[in-house]
Amino acid sequence: MRQAGRYLPEYRGLREKLSFIELCRRPDVAAEVTLQPLARFDLDAAIVFADILLPLEGMGIGFHFDERDGPVIEHTVRSAADLEGVHVGAPRTDIPYVYEALRLVARELAGKVPLIGFAGAPFTLASYVIEGGHSRDYARTKTLMLTAPAVFERLMALLAETAVDHLLAQIEAGAQVLQLFDSWVGALGPRDYARFVAPHSKTVCDAVSGRGVPLIHFAAGAAGMVSEIHAAGGDVIGLDWRVDLDRARRELGDGVAVQGNLDPAVLLGPPDEVERHAADVLRRAQGRPGHIFNLGHGVLPATPPDAIARLVEFVHAWPADARDEPAFGDAHDKPATGLTHDKPATGAAHPAPAIGER
Ligand code: CP3
Repeated sequence: MRQAGRYLPEYRGLREKLSFIELCRRPDVAAEVTLQPLARFDLDAAIVFADILLPLEGMGIGFHFDERDGPVIEHTVRSAADLEGVHVGAPRTDIPYVYEALRLVARELAGKVPLIGFAGAPFTLASYVIEGGHSRDYARTKTLMLTAPAVFERLMALLAETAVDHLLAQIEAGAQVLQLFDSWVGALGPRDYARFVAPHSKTVCDAVSGRGVPLIHFAAGAAGMVSEIHAAGGDVIGLDWRVDLDRARRELGDGVAVQGNLDPAVLLGPPDEVERHAADVLRRAQGRPGHIFNLGHGVLPATPPDAIARLVEFVHAWPADARDEPAFGDAHDKPATGLTHDKPATGAAHPAPAIGER
């Protein structure tokens, strides 16, 4: 989840010389940036430095990054006519630098930690292509989806097909885990997700499964539709902080792992609050199979690097077998016994109470 970036002075140093897109296009530099967070922190995985928008250019959809506004799409699709000139991409030849960066990083890591490759999910990419950039309400996207479903479907199908190729090429280049980012899917309700989006996400998930490379399906703002997300595919469901992991688990069952979900903004707070929030995430995940501790979204640029170092240490010191400290303190989790526990879990290195206990 965007673990490299502007919160690191060494990244800002490179950015003084090169634009974001130049960083991506230079495999040696992209590999260096990928490894920057690992040089500082005892992280358990690396994610290749790239962007979900990179495959768009080869589909006939030009874009650039504005220093202030973020991604700007130069060829938006809002009608059937706009689809002219838009086609399936050939990522292997369009963006060979991504795979070269993966090969360089894989060589450098030599299996020490897994290397994650990634792609944007069809809906999140379509929302950029339709809106022209980030949006508050996704009104244009929903208008196209509802009034010209065939155009929307066609765009989604092209994006899905390109994403499949991009992900398969990343496996070939050394990615050992894949992540599909559906960052803006929370704009939709569960029914529209199931109807207009899930089939295309499923195309991507199905095409990359069964290759010994686990897929993390990340969906932000999707607390109300975790089963629908899961039904589309993924060995791991990545969640943001808007849902408690134990609550999501009740819907997901134990047949899938979860990833998440510390609010990245918590890292802007004092160390004891970071520990309190992290302990709460860990407690809500423990006792069930398969949890990857992670932030619920990308690291914010104002994050002090020391806060991340302390967080990584805290999570690693957490006893993996701690099972006797259920998450509690909120109405939906427990029958109203009125009990609160302040005791640490037996053998717990960090007796930070769960949120809601104070
Ligand atoms: O840690 C890593 O090396 C992974 C790098 C990574 C980036 N983008 C680099 C990046 C990953 C995994 C992404 C994915 C991505 N890109 C997503 C999905 C994940 C998420 O955060 O939801 C999305 C939605 C994008 C699109 C995108 N790219 C946005 C919205 C922005 C602007 C963000 C901002 O803060 O300005 C980008 C640019 C971008 N991609 C940056 C980085 C480090 C900031 C670039 C800079 O200004 O130096």
